Amino acid sequence: RTVYVNGEYLPEEDAKISIFDRGFLMADGVYEVTSVLDGKLVDFDGHVKRLARSLNELGMGEPLTADELLEIHRKLVAENEVINGGVYLQITRGAPADRDFAFPPEDTPQTVVLFTQNKPDLAESPAAARGIKVISIEDIRWGRRDIKTVQLLYPSMGKMMAKAAGCDDAWMVEDGAVTEGTSNNAYIIKDGKIITRQLSNDILHGITRAAVLEFAREAQMKVEERPFTIEEAQQADEAFITSATTFVTPVVEIDGVTVGAGEPGPAAKRLRELYIEGSR
Ligand code: PDD
Repeated sequence: RTVYVNGEYLPEEDAKISIFDRGFLMADGVYEVTSVLDGKLVDFDGHVKRLARSLNELGMGEPLTADELLEIHRKLVAENEVINGGVYLQITRGAPADRDFAFPPEDTPQTVVLFTQNKPDLAESPAAARGIKVISIEDIRWGRRDIKTVQLLYPSMGKMMAKAAGCDDAWMVEDGAVTEGTSNNAYIIKDGKIITRQLSNDILHGITRAAVLEFAREAQMKVEERPFTIEEAQQADEAFITSATTFVTPVVEIDGVTVGAGEPGPAAKRLRELYIEGSR
């Protein structure tokens, strides 16, 4: 695989970053994952805009323009012959001379890394065909979940707790209401209405979320942005998640309770089709 590191395209085994990199030592970095569907980048503009916002919120500059980033994405996709999969991008505050809690001087070069991942046809996901099972866990992450940082230890632990329980993922709950999944946004459908938590610092502002809600509104489906509880979700007609890597994926069980008919429902299936067709 060819990867990109700080201006260079290299074979992955030749790519190197410093042990003093603040991404490594302090999780002081942000990232984006953009899917590739049939060789095409999905929602690229949304991902670069959110990247700029994440960088700005953390007082980091933008090391590359949107056009430069697009060129790197395209070059890696072509070079690595990615038909289905994605591009991972990470930018950190760079590698100062030593470990220090204080930020390094502003002229410290940021570290920019991109690599591709090949996956089976994203449109034909077995998980989406059967629907996934989730457990609920407490949301103990920090208060700026709107910034896409590389601090992913708790979501990673949540994923492992779900696996240990024989499930696929975890929905995180704060003050009695669902915030989001470990790496996706969460939704329920009740009486034809799509319900999902409103945007705030409590959740990541999903790029797939924005696109799916737009497709839903265009298709005259009702959308209500508000918090919901696990109990409400268990009694919903349908439930689903969205993310760049899962698109729209139905949820058929929550904490051992079957949602709706226990199989992917019509509205979630329709939204998945609308999203995939709209992204091709
Ligand atoms: N995760 N919420 C969280 C906590 C996420 O990590 C993600 C994405 C989302 C969905 O955002 P988007 O639709 O822009 O992908 C919501 C990516 C896919 C990841 O960490 O791999």
